[in-house]
Amino acid sequence: MKKKIIIFDTTLRDGEQALQASLNSNKKIQIALALERMGVDVIEAGFPISSPGEFKSIESISKLLKTSKICSLARCLKKDIDTAAQAMKHAAESRIHLFLGTSNLHISSKLKKSFNEITDMAVSSVIRARKYTNDVEFSCEDAGRTSLHNLYKIIEAVIDAGATTINIPDTVGYTTPTQFKKIIQNIFDHVKNIHKVIVSVHCHNDLGMAVGNSISAVEAGARQIEGTMNGLGERAGNAALEEVIMALYVHQNVLKKYTNINYKEIYKTSKIVSQFCNMPISINKAIVGKNAFLHSSGVHQDGVLKNRKNYEIINPIKIGLNNCKLNLTSRSGRSAVEHRMQEMGYHKNDYNLNELYIDFLKLADKKGQIFDYDLEALAFFKKQQNTEEYFKLEYFDVQSKLSGLSVASIILICGSQTNIQKATTSNGPVDAIYQALNKATLYPIILKKFHLVANGEGKDALGKVDIVVQYKLRNFHGVGLATDIIEASAQAMVNVLNYIWKSNQVNKELEKLNK
Ligand code: KIV
Ligand code: ZN
Repeated sequence: MKKKIIIFDTTLRDGEQALQASLNSNKKIQIALALERMGVDVIEAGFPISSPGEFKSIESISKLLKTSKICSLARCLKKDIDTAAQAMKHAAESRIHLFLGTSNLHISSKLKKSFNEITDMAVSSVIRARKYTNDVEFSCEDAGRTSLHNLYKIIEAVIDAGATTINIPDTVGYTTPTQFKKIIQNIFDHVKNIHKVIVSVHCHNDLGMAVGNSISAVEAGARQIEGTMNGLGERAGNAALEEVIMALYVHQNVLKKYTNINYKEIYKTSKIVSQFCNMPISINKAIVGKNAFLHSSGVHQDGVLKNRKNYEIINPIKIGLNNCKLNLTSRSGRSAVEHRMQEMGYHKNDYNLNELYIDFLKLADKKGQIFDYDLEALAFFKKQQNTEEYFKLEYFDVQSKLSGLSVASIILICGSQTNIQKATTSNGPVDAIYQALNKATLYPIILKKFHLVANGEGKDALGKVDIVVQYKLRNFHGVGLATDIIEASAQAMVNVLNYIWKSNQVNKELEKLNK
């Protein structure tokens, strides 16, 4: 029989406390609701004593949650416990989470007390918290560096006092999976009343072992895992819940465990957390990174097209990711190109695959990544691909003032014509030049992404501008590179305008063919 693992999310508490700027109440509510949709069992919504704003957010969240239990953090202090209870008084179900340092280091240099005093504080706090709720979690902060003897003593005492969950945090991410598993096993073997409670783990990622340690703890009998979406949290972060959840899922038959998670919500929830917290996800991040389900080498792409399982241990649809694509580069094989053309709706007879593949490799060598519109241009409009660009920026002049208007003047060569335009805006120099280019081309475009990074170091660095523009429901990518970031921005847009022009020409040719 499989046993349930309780998923405890602390994105809004441990995750939030590590952000550069705290989240406003509205964002916290939206994250909490997304976590609830994802099926998280317990949501630690914050540390209510820390500020009136934090208190209010927890109060609002506690009124909204229906299926997830809300939890608030409290030190072993009367005012913390009473405030936590107050903040959650409207909740359908609530948990108070008490924590106290138990390692010799924390006791002597942080709390400046004896171990017996610490134990008394923990016991009286659990008794106080139990007056408000039947669900009290006690965390032995820095358990990863606490002597086993002290761990057994304090855990036994707080269970007798009424704690219902005992959490074992590896607060500084110090242990290895084997060491951490041993700690959990020892607790089960030596604490005589341990069977009365749920044993939980809370692992930090300082050595990159938070997820591994959490799964090891499950093998030793832990029944709750604490973590955060995208692994946010103090320093190197907490165990990434999406990774923990999918590890439990992939190995369910060995671990004999299940969760209540609605897997289809994982990707969306991760995105919401990343956007609201202003914390980008690295592209190779497990489960939710942009490349997590992207196949680049020709051998891999061919293998995936024959059977996804050749190179995927999880079907991306499981986590709510539908548009999983092959990354088309010079490493891609003929079958990947053919597959993409098919996905775009083209039949084999519409184009010559052999010729297309040769041209594709040449262009990929120059350009790096190949997008849909490149393929179309190569397949149906090869002549234009080799000729000069249609739009060329001959001249620009941009003037910009602090708190004033920006003015851009341009000369754009459009085929054989010269187009002179001027635009004025209060949105800065890049917008001014984009508006002028827009006046010259009149394409109904929407700028969806503008990303500026420094290529190189110091003042000689080149500005690299990467944009995504939507035109008639299709996305076009453009890149510009120059020491002047306005010039790089303009180049990126001119790049896009040329792709749009080519794509329009392709469509015209196809229309002619279909007549
Ligand atoms: O890392 C830690 O020890 C904590 C506790 C408050 C559980 O975050
Ligand atoms: Zn923590």
